Amino acid sequence: MATNITFHAGSVDGTERARLMQQKGVTVWFTGLSASGKSTVACALEQHLLHLKNFCYRLDGDNVRFGLNKDLGFDEKSRNENIRRIGERFLTVFYQVSKLFADASCICATAFISPYRADRALARELHEQAGLGFVEVFIDAPLHVVEQRDPKGLYKKARAGEIKDFTGISAPYEAPENPEIHIKTDECDVTESVRRITEYLTEKGFI
Ligand SMILES: Nc1ncnc2c1ncn2[C@@H]1O[C@H](COP(=O)(O)OP(=O)(O)OP(=O)(O)O)[C@@H](O)[C@H]1O
Ligand SMILES: [Mg+2]
Repeated sequence: MATNITFHAGSVDGTERARLMQQKGVTVWFTGLSASGKSTVACALEQHLLHLKNFCYRLDGDNVRFGLNKDLGFDEKSRNENIRRIGERFLTVFYQVSKLFADASCICATAFISPYRADRALARELHEQAGLGFVEVFIDAPLHVVEQRDPKGLYKKARAGEIKDFTGISAPYEAPENPEIHIKTDECDVTESVRRITEYLTEKGFI
């Protein structure tokens, strides 16, 4: 690391920022199988919180294709590369990006399958080391339910062998052991899911 650099601290510290913004920075990390409902619930949460005048922003694995992965097409090789990059390379970028949003006093809702416990633990550690909130939300639905939903036709392609290493079919999903919030989307509708997350954030003093 360079030795001739100086960290320039701001004149507003975290406590003062939270007071002025009337909310504490936190990452709400959604994890779950494809089609379990991460994007659906994260979108509804973002909309709900913005209407309450809370600063909330969503980072969504689906949208990576329009940014960092926009060089990729939709042939088999590209689809596999998209999944590999999100899983291995970019997830670590998003730990840092969500942390930056949380540091800016934002409620950052992330929607990535993030199938490995160790990866999610690392994201949590980065936040907690920086004194920032981290709320893991397990968006849970049984495989037969998500396969039936299959809004993007991905399970069909994974079953046909067109997509390799697909979480739940040909790659593991490590369910959270102690998530702050566990939502079963085959039993709980979107409105109730948003209500539960908002209630948790309120109880813990983030909003
Ligand atoms: N209670 C529910 N909560 C959320 N989504 C639901 C629920 N019931 C049915 N759905 C449907 O399930 C699908 C979930 O798709 P969504 O894109 O949100 O999943 P995802 O977890 O973001 O998947 P991916 O990892 O592929 O991005 C949507 O078609 C949604 O309408
Ligand atoms: Mg999604």
